[in-house]
Amino acid sequence: MERIQSALAKARAARDRKLQGANPGSGTKNTETGPWPGLSELKLNPGHLERNRIVAMHPGANAASFDVMRTNLLRTLRTNGWTRVAITSPTPGCGKSTLAANLAFSLARLADTRVLLVELDLRHPSLLRMLGQETDQNFAGMLAEGKIDYGQIRRAGPNLAFALNARAMENPAELLSAARTADIIDEIEAQLRPDVVLFDLSPVLVSDDAISFLDQVDCALMVAAANETTVSEIDKCGKDLAKRTQVLGVVLNKCDYMEQEESLAYPE
Ligand SMILES: Nc1ncnc2c1ncn2[C@@H]1O[C@H](COP(=O)(O)OP(=O)(O)O)[C@@H](O)[C@H]1O
Ligand SMILES: [Mg+2]
Repeated sequence: MERIQSALAKARAARDRKLQGANPGSGTKNTETGPWPGLSELKLNPGHLERNRIVAMHPGANAASFDVMRTNLLRTLRTNGWTRVAITSPTPGCGKSTLAANLAFSLARLADTRVLLVELDLRHPSLLRMLGQETDQNFAGMLAEGKIDYGQIRRAGPNLAFALNARAMENPAELLSAARTADIIDEIEAQLRPDVVLFDLSPVLVSDDAISFLDQVDCALMVAAANETTVSEIDKCGKDLAKRTQVLGVVLNKCDYMEQEESLAYPE
């Protein structure tokens, strides 16, 4: 365990050095000179979002559980000097993408909290459809080409940006574990200066895609589906994650026997 902690700390320190070198003035977003303001805007349809269970764009009862989670998450990130959060699950369909989008909208409602949501469940990209977009965004294709194109990242409002994919990719583990991919993500973070980067990853128990990327994140949230995910799947997934990163907790989703607030606030 100590070896993992020290490896994580080393990786983080190397990344921090790189980010500071690339962006010596980082921290002040008032005098924006980076690519963030030039990102093209997504046009969102509130009715479409709601039909897809994306309900945290505006404050209110539906968003409350995501707001509680956002507050817990931000405190953990700030305490540790972290920015990068993996969102994963044991198996498909637990609600990772839905949760990632809601958490992103909830975080982005905080003034001065800039959020980037990166879709890396590359065998099953879904966020463009969930957000009602018909654009041909291809963030993973850009990673594969190895050259940053900010046209592949779209903004939704002043604080939130999405790096998404219209097309699925077969066998993305090599791309996800490539040093060049890590460098591109570092460079994008240095230029866009998000306070939080959420990575919507693949399920852990069906392929090595998610595990291949975990060296690039500071921590992970596991989403489990009540009545679908088994305890042994949660256990196995938790163990696999803990070998590579800090596991923040399990979000029990799709709970129909609890108040939503209880089901979604990850334990500390
Ligand atoms: N809390 C929830 N209650 C009921 N259905 C949900 C909930 N969260 C997500 N879903 C639905 O479950 C399905 C899978 O969700 P999705 O976010 O795509 O999962 P994943 O990204 O883990 O594969 C979608 O149809 C989504 O609308
Ligand atoms: Mg998904």
